[in-house]
Amino acid sequence: MSGLIITVAQQKGGSGKTTVAAHLAVAFARAGKSVGILDVDPQGSLGEWFERREATLGEDEAGLSFRTASGWGARREARQLAREHDIVVVDTPPKSDLEIRPAIEMADLVLVPVQPTPVDLWATAPTLAMAAKEGVASVIVINRAVSRALLTGEIIAAAGELGHAIAEAHLGNRVAYPQSMGEGRTVQETAPGGLAAEEVAALAREVLRRAQPR
Ligand SMILES: Nc1ncnc2c1ncn2[C@@H]1O[C@H](COP(=O)(O)OP(=O)(O)OP(=O)(O)O)[C@@H](O)[C@H]1O
Ligand SMILES: [Mg+2]
Repeated sequence: MSGLIITVAQQKGGSGKTTVAAHLAVAFARAGKSVGILDVDPQGSLGEWFERREATLGEDEAGLSFRTASGWGARREARQLAREHDIVVVDTPPKSDLEIRPAIEMADLVLVPVQPTPVDLWATAPTLAMAAKEGVASVIVINRAVSRALLTGEIIAAAGELGHAIAEAHLGNRVAYPQSMGEGRTVQETAPGGLAAEEVAALAREVLRRAQPR
């Protein structure tokens, strides 16, 4: 048996990769899955979040297994984690080159977080192209949406031009995200029942629907 590998990638820095990776990992765990997380980013943000998580909740309650890897080591680590867990979530650095290819190659689904502006959307092209080249399905995830109204037809049309799937579930621009991450937790844990928690749960359900083991 091998678990699903979900890689979060986008060459643009600060698009929300680490936030999305941590939130999905916890959402999957809360849905009863065993979850491994793999940080391929030398910045180590996901690792810092996880350390804080262990400090806040204790090792047993953290509920996820954490590994790091760099470059080609990501393949082996992702495969190993997938043997031991239902789902592996991989966080990657803001790069579009060789450094993230192994994490893309191994994925069953690549999630590409993007802030809803045309410029940010254009920046997704190299990541989407890399996934396509590897024959891996990818989906754009709108992050930091200010309101649905501001997701104008322009953005949706531009994504359509790229020929690309956009997740129905969006994450809003909410202070609850950085706040919860700072405690090593996620909005489902710090603000259960809130809008942020709801949109994270919806995204997690949608990702599971879209992710087909290869
Ligand atoms: N939905 C959101 N609402 C509010 N703030 C957010 C949201 N998503 C991310 N942020 C904030 O935006 C910043 C960048 O997010 P994050 O670190 O997740 O991006 P990243 O793509 O992993 O960055 P990098 O490319 O440096 O790895 C962080 O300060 C984070 O707290
Ligand atoms: Mg990051």
